[in-house]
Amino acid sequence: MAACGKVEVNEDILDTLSPELQVIKKTMQDKQMRLGMQEILKALLKIVPDYENMLVENVLRPFIVKDEDYIRIMDLMLENFNKGLHKETNKDARVKMFPTYVRAVPDGTEEGDYLALDLGGTNFRVLLISLRGQEVNMDSKIYLIPQNIMLGTGEQLFDHIAECISKFMVSHKLGRKKLPLGFTFSFPCRQEGLDKAILTTWTKGFKCEGVEGEDIVRLLHEAIKRRGDMAVDCLAVINDTVGALMSCAHSDRQCAVGLILGTGTNACYIERLENVELANVKAEDGPREMLINTEWGAFGDDGCLDFVRTEYDRHVDKHSLNPGLQIYEKMISGMYMGEIVRLVLVKLVKHSLLFGGQGSELLFQRGRFYTKYVSEIESDVDDGFKNTKQVFEELEIDKSTEEDCRIVQHVCSLISSRAAYLASAGIGCILNKMDRPEVTVAVDGSLYRFHPHFHDLMMEKTQQLVKPGLKFKLMLSHDGSGKGAALVAAVAHRLRQEAHTFQKEDKSNLRRNLGEMNLYEQS
Ligand code: GLC
Repeated sequence: MAACGKVEVNEDILDTLSPELQVIKKTMQDKQMRLGMQEILKALLKIVPDYENMLVENVLRPFIVKDEDYIRIMDLMLENFNKGLHKETNKDARVKMFPTYVRAVPDGTEEGDYLALDLGGTNFRVLLISLRGQEVNMDSKIYLIPQNIMLGTGEQLFDHIAECISKFMVSHKLGRKKLPLGFTFSFPCRQEGLDKAILTTWTKGFKCEGVEGEDIVRLLHEAIKRRGDMAVDCLAVINDTVGALMSCAHSDRQCAVGLILGTGTNACYIERLENVELANVKAEDGPREMLINTEWGAFGDDGCLDFVRTEYDRHVDKHSLNPGLQIYEKMISGMYMGEIVRLVLVKLVKHSLLFGGQGSELLFQRGRFYTKYVSEIESDVDDGFKNTKQVFEELEIDKSTEEDCRIVQHVCSLISSRAAYLASAGIGCILNKMDRPEVTVAVDGSLYRFHPHFHDLMMEKTQQLVKPGLKFKLMLSHDGSGKGAALVAAVAHRLRQEAHTFQKEDKSNLRRNLGEMNLYEQS
């Protein structure tokens, strides 16, 4: 593969060679002997045909995870899920398995106009959604969340959100109309009802002071009140995984899992109510199921994934805003994948295995290799590496060969395949746990949407990992964060109105728990 011919074979690169050699080296007590052995190794290496290629493969070897390791990951994931679900172990669990208070999926009869908010990445969206049964019309606007707000105070963040809603209301001539609102807030929240969500920790590059431990619905309502120029009633908070599931379930009744593969990664699924020990609901009321937001991004935070983590994963974690947290997410999702690739490319350049040993200032800059490049590079098939060369140009890499293009494509493909396989282990674990004969998994997120092979890789690996006989589909969910929030708000709104009527009729008999939602109630 590598054709630069002036590879510097130093100790670091020798360390990537076979584990057996490393063991021999470690047993050598004498420093002189160790150095001698190193010289012999270097000389031997140079007579191996195509040894540069072998060195590249050695650098990349840690990204190849064995099939038995994926099975172990699935088992570990299940252990983590159970720890999170049980009342007595939840406190120490890393994977929190939050009850969502959403007890079933929509039945397609939801109606009315709703506002939806979507916060979870660098963009914030406000949507106006009109539901007429299966027919859904949406109008939305994207507002940027500047970096200083992502890292500022909670008050600044919610004031900014309120300002965006106000602008949206004005531009859509909504005046002071009081619209029910659903909020897709894609961060880990402990919910105490549909309309009470306490942020446990920020993830994905957000770190606004004074929000962790607080109810985000209260913070939103307070910011709206501070402005005093609109009437908005937030009835429900959902995670984006729940939105994806809801939006897909609106047309596919087998849909029972929601998966996000975007800036972050996470999944939710329908759990039997008797396993949901943490939710405060009466089992005898309504469906015997509830959606669980797993927050699986935190899988591995107790060190259980260390056996498959690489030096590059550790580096990415160490330099993140939340070191030691969201370990599984950092091996999979779009916020980190580009950086993992970049670190590997830098290593290859430093050993003269890529670009003739000459990188560029941009390539050496943290965060400068975007995950979208991975999708673009892997989309090159028999086109003379058109996209790959374009990426090199953007990174101001002047000299590159076809061989360099092939190596970079190979690096991208190994790292994205590992991500797809790791996510498959998670999905395999959920499907086996649910044990339903046929399940549709609703998937959303830029990584899944734009990567040319993610879907196929996941289908192949999940198929290997699920119990024989279980059937599944991975289905792209369209705009779940908006539509899902509106659907949940729609039912919460109906329940609230019904409760008012009910209250007038017989106050003493008021049994409805508005903090909870039974979306099947209409049918
Ligand atoms: C992060 C968040 C989680 C969200 C996921 C995908 O993992 O903690 O709530 O669902 O990103 O956006």
